Amino acid sequence: MTAGDGKMHYWDAYWDFRPDDCPCDVHFVEWLDANGIRDKTIYHFGTGGHHLVGIECARPERRNAVLGITAAPQEYETYIELAIERPEILEFYNVVFGDIYMLNPKLLPEFDVVTLFHLCEFRGEKNDAYDALTDLDVTNLLTDRTRIDGHILFFPSSYAYDRADHSAKDVVAAWEKHRDVERLGMFESLLVYRKRS
Ligand SMILES: C[S@@+](CC[C@H](N)C(=O)[O-])C[C@H]1O[C@@H](n2cnc3c(N)ncnc32)[C@H](O)[C@@H]1O
Repeated sequence: MTAGDGKMHYWDAYWDFRPDDCPCDVHFVEWLDANGIRDKTIYHFGTGGHHLVGIECARPERRNAVLGITAAPQEYETYIELAIERPEILEFYNVVFGDIYMLNPKLLPEFDVVTLFHLCEFRGEKNDAYDALTDLDVTNLLTDRTRIDGHILFFPSSYAYDRADHSAKDVVAAWEKHRDVERLGMFESLLVYRKRS
């Protein structure tokens, strides 16, 4: 990540398709299919430079509309290339270059499904410098933007899930204590919740 000089805490890296290291996106598409989820609206935190979720969801057999976010300029660049090469995808897949910790609910529709696979992986003091949201804030905000009976998914294999400090596990525990959500259980590497009300 780039230094706290008042600039955005962007991700100066590029994540290519590496499902052996990080299977969350592949398992997510499998979960959509296993649950017959089509023609729905999805918020996806962390597109990667491969854009697998957006590309797969745009296929005629799925037609899920995906709003993805990346904090990596290099990954946004591959989205621009994808859009230019395959404009038909634009109807179903939009990517924002930004910081999820600066989300504004006024700019978000309601979602049927939200992915928070990379919770706690990237939030740090550099985000504090511009009063960014916390991981719990983001989880609550996106829960607010999830429809009743919609789903919110986490990735317990993330290095940030079970670590000693600032773990996603602790954020999820605090979140589920105060929100009317039901823990449905694991699907492959993903932990799935349903919003009850
Ligand atoms: C390790 S990559 C994983 C990408 C993909 N989900 C996968 O598993 O192949 C982490 C992703 O999180 C994104 N990211 C990191 N910090 C972010 C932030 N503050 N806001 C939004 N996205 C962020 C990166 O741009 C990158 O796409």
